[in-house]
Parts: sequence; C-alpha cells; structure tokens
Amino acid sequence: MAAIAVERLGKVFNRGSPREVSALREVTFSMASGEFVCILGPSGCGKSTILNILAGLESGFEGQVLLEGLALRSVGSALRVGYVFQESRLLPWLTVEQNVHFGLECQGFHRREWPARSAAVLEMVGLADFAHHYVHQLSGGMQQRTSIARALSIDPQILLMDEPFSSLDEFTARDLRQQLLGIWTRTGKTILFVTHNSFEATFLADRLLLMTRRPGRIVEDLRIDLPRPRSYDDPRVFDVNGKVVKTFFKSMNEP
Ligand SMILES: Nc1ncnc2c1ncn2[C@@H]1O[C@H](COP(=O)(O)OP(=O)(O)OP(=O)(O)O)[C@@H](O)[C@H]1O
Ligand SMILES: [Mg+2]
Repeated sequence: MAAIAVERLGKVFNRGSPREVSALREVTFSMASGEFVCILGPSGCGKSTILNILAGLESGFEGQVLLEGLALRSVGSALRVGYVFQESRLLPWLTVEQNVHFGLECQGFHRREWPARSAAVLEMVGLADFAHHYVHQLSGGMQQRTSIARALSIDPQILLMDEPFSSLDEFTARDLRQQLLGIWTRTGKTILFVTHNSFEATFLADRLLLMTRRPGRIVEDLRIDLPRPRSYDDPRVFDVNGKVVKTFFKSMNEP
C-alpha cells in the first residue's frame, strides 16, 4: 500500500470571485513507505498547497488523497503527519524545548512524555545544549533545526517539509541536508520535501516530481539512481542535476 496516494488533485482558491486562482490541476502521484520524494517547481506552482492539503490544513479540493490507505477525513489519530513549514512558525516567547513541547501538546501527547521526546529529537538535530534558549537567541539554521525537531517529536509516519533550507546560506544548508539524510536513514520515515532548488532535490531524493507553472501539474516523475550515502564531491550528482535542469526547462516550454 502506498504511504501517499494522490489522484487527480485539483485546487481552486476563491472560486467564482474576481480573485479566483486555479492553483493545482490533475495532480497525480504516489509514494511508497520510507521513500524520499522531492517536489521541484517554480514559485507559485502550488507546492505548498499540496503539502497543506496532505496535512489536512486545506480543504475543498477535487480528487482523492489517501494516506496509508486512509481518506484524509478519516485519518484522525490513526496516522501522525509532521510538517516543517516554509516560514518559521516557532513561538518566540517559548524556548526551544518548550516549542517542541507545544507541538507535542497540540498532538495530544501526555505531559509525562514531553521531556524524553524533546530530549531525543533535540539530540538528533544537535540542539541538546540549546534546549533552554529562546528563538531569537538562535541562528537561522538552528531555528530550522528546531522546526525539524518539533516535527519529528511526534514520531510521524509521514514528514512533510516545505523548502526548509531555502533561506539558509549554502554551507549551512549542505550540513542540514546531510543531517536530514542521516535522520531519514536511521528512522526510515516517508519524506515529501518541497524545493525550487534542483541541486538540493537531486542530492536528497529517490524520486523527483517536476511541476509546471500554475495551475501546477506534475509533468515528470524522475527516479534518481545515485548511490547512497551521497557526497557533494561526487561528480555524478552534478551530472544528474544537469539532466534534471534540462528536463525541467524542456517540460516548462512544452504546451
Ligand atoms: N489561501 C490562499 N488563498 C488564495 N490563493 C492562494 C492561497 N494559498 C495559495 N494561493 C495561491 O495558489 C497559488 C499556489 O500557491 P503556493 O503557495 O502553493 O505556491 P508554491 O509553489 O508553494 O510557491 P513558492 O515556491 O513561492 O512557495 C498561488 O498563485 C497563490 O497565490
Ligand atoms: Mg510555497
């Protein structure tokens, strides 16, 4: 059974009003459990909209979405979905640890479980020594790692990540991509990762879904057969990225 199965997904915002926007049209894809898939597409093509729909934050769409075989409305507590948002949604008046605890509280975890869970994920993302720091006392990369820790703390079966590293410098982003791959290898989570950076997508993914401009459609589903663990020094990563970019522009220019 697929971890995520999306069939003919369509989304129109403000239907019937002068501000009507057709964001997604006939988006179809599926993901196996434990797979790392990247969605690559230009700004405004509907990438965040797809993740919001999968996370149950956006309703009123066309088509069918199944998570581990369950329709979205019946997922309930049967399945946990972690979400690292495009913009930081950390609460500035809380410490790193309290932000993680807040996420656990929202998902209904008992207070008793919070300390062990937050300690484990902060260790995982290398922030154990910063548990009592406030958000403004962290660098941008540390804030992103806090968001990742918060998403992981609920032990999600599915992890959605929306351009989590795009606001970071390339050195920090490289470090965090490697850390993420390490976490993925250790935990075997199903990860759907959105980006507009083709190199990042090529480096991370088992498969790439290329999207067109709005209304977003998936025009290519590319398997990335590069061996793992992957290295930034491996010239094959650059070769494959070159092919991805070529395919991307070719499909963009097709009618
Ligand atoms: N809540 C909303 N109400 C109205 N229109 C929306 C809403 N959310 C998104 N849209 C529109 O849907 C389209 C897709 O937006 P979305 O945020 O999914 O794009 P994106 O691919 O994530 O872009 P980016 O790479 O810039 O983050 C855009 O044209 C946007 O204006
Ligand atoms: Mg977005």
